[in-house]
Amino acid sequence: MTRVVVVGSGIAGLTAALEAREGGADVEVLTKAASDASNTRYAQGGIASVVSSDDSAEAHAEDTLRASGGLADPEAVRALVAGGPIAIAALEVRGVGFDRGADGARLLGREAVHSAPRILHAGGDATGAEIQRGLLAECRARGVRVREGVFAADVVVSGGGVVGIRMIDGGSIAEESADAVVLATGGVGQMYAVTTNPQVATGDGVAIALRAGAAVRDMEFVQFHPTVLAVGEPFLVSEAVRGEGAVLLDEAGERFALEAHPDGELAPRDVVARAIARAMARQDGRPVLLDATALGAAHLARRFPTIDRVVRERGLDWSRAPIPVSPAAHYAMGGAVTDLDGRTTVPGLYAAGETARTGVHGANRLASNSLLEGAVFGARAGRTAAAIGRGDTVSAGVLARRAAAASADGASGAQSVAAPLPTPDDAGRGSCIPQQDQRGPDATGAGDPHGRIVDDTTTVGGDGISIPPTVRPAHRTTASRDAGNVVLPIEMAQPFSRGALQELMWRCAGLSRDAKGLAEAAVAIARWRAAFPMPRTAREHEDRNLLDVAAEIVRAASARTESVGAHWRSDDAADLGQPEPALEAAC
Ligand code: SIN
Repeated sequence: MTRVVVVGSGIAGLTAALEAREGGADVEVLTKAASDASNTRYAQGGIASVVSSDDSAEAHAEDTLRASGGLADPEAVRALVAGGPIAIAALEVRGVGFDRGADGARLLGREAVHSAPRILHAGGDATGAEIQRGLLAECRARGVRVREGVFAADVVVSGGGVVGIRMIDGGSIAEESADAVVLATGGVGQMYAVTTNPQVATGDGVAIALRAGAAVRDMEFVQFHPTVLAVGEPFLVSEAVRGEGAVLLDEAGERFALEAHPDGELAPRDVVARAIARAMARQDGRPVLLDATALGAAHLARRFPTIDRVVRERGLDWSRAPIPVSPAAHYAMGGAVTDLDGRTTVPGLYAAGETARTGVHGANRLASNSLLEGAVFGARAGRTAAAIGRGDTVSAGVLARRAAAASADGASGAQSVAAPLPTPDDAGRGSCIPQQDQRGPDATGAGDPHGRIVDDTTTVGGDGISIPPTVRPAHRTTASRDAGNVVLPIEMAQPFSRGALQELMWRCAGLSRDAKGLAEAAVAIARWRAAFPMPRTAREHEDRNLLDVAAEIVRAASARTESVGAHWRSDDAADLGQPEPALEAAC
């Protein structure tokens, strides 16, 4: 029997596992934490699909391409939208319940850049949790083994293809054979100082793919969500709230989003996130306000029960007063290059969901297309992986051509992992040096994935975007200062800590980038990687993965010198002095 190992237990991994099982394979899901600790579980807005006769696949495809900055692959987008209704039906058959009105029809929400209401949701704003619950129950019912607390370290490659997986199980390294491995480990949000992502999002799948020699592409495109609650730990406040009519205000009570784009609060995410960063810079880094008061207490509680609970737990009443919000790293558009059936450029290695680069997102993902991508392409990857024993092999010639095409297009493979180290001369000294407090490199970083290092400088690009200190959770800033710590810049040769990497990436490869900052980041990351010891624990493996993927993000962001979608280059000469022209053209 064909043995398929799926790494990751979000929508993409669980769907791949179920489809591979239906295809007759022996299937095992490995997940490094609890089985429901995935990005999927936290998805609020919903899953986009055409399910109404007032909507069309053509319109969904057009919206997806428009949001992508022209860089999505039309064939992949067509496959995505065409697969939507089937994927929704499959989720419902597997026990997922979407919200329905009194007439029994599915309720549909609206989000930015969608030309029609087409966002299915569950439990109001608990869509991901319901999907996760339904799929996990179905896996148990169908004989898919889900092994919690097992960390996938690497795939075993022999004879040019994947033959197994190396893992840490119960503190020991083990190797097991596999005919196919599907990487579906989710995103890279823990690379950044402020993120919507849970602690598990450490880019493991992309790092494994890179080390296996698979082509990886589009890593410069990291989406920043415009609105997380800026009181306490970052907490996503869904775009669907703006879709229902909430507006963004600066401290003076002025709506500013319309200055950036005619669609205002429902402009593409990257446009709104940068508009917020600019507004924050104008008010010394203090968060902007999301005003949902017009929606009323009853509607807010019914439509957004999760957000309503968290907002109130933090002492705010959003039905009466606007709440403070700021941007956060949210989603990686790039990943391991796959064809439409999840095959990477390494035989036997498949990828799905946020780990994969299927081509559907281009430079900027359309809201709520990610759960759909996980469902549609997770299913395709699972079916194809199950067929590997029945001859799903791609000839060496085809793979070589695919890898060459990806490489000509700016993708990386194993070569980027082994790229020569930049020297300090490549970077010089500038505003982008990681900051560190006096307690030493691990004082705020290690052991605390949300650990952040605090400074009171801002990085202001030529476009006026700054990375204000209060974008980071305020209580950490206060705690650090209350503790009497003086915050000092340190040399780039400082020892690695996760917190220092998060800070570096937030400053130098965040909402706004330039050549100098990216070169500084490349130097620091290269030094950290060169000095990184052989990882032993899961935590050390995660750190190495973050470093490997950070190197790839910085490499790709340096290579793309023009602004497009979520990748904003403040030194893009064509854009200097003209805020947002590229995006207005694209959207
Ligand atoms: C949100 O609800 O705003 C996030 C959903 C998504 O990223 O698609």
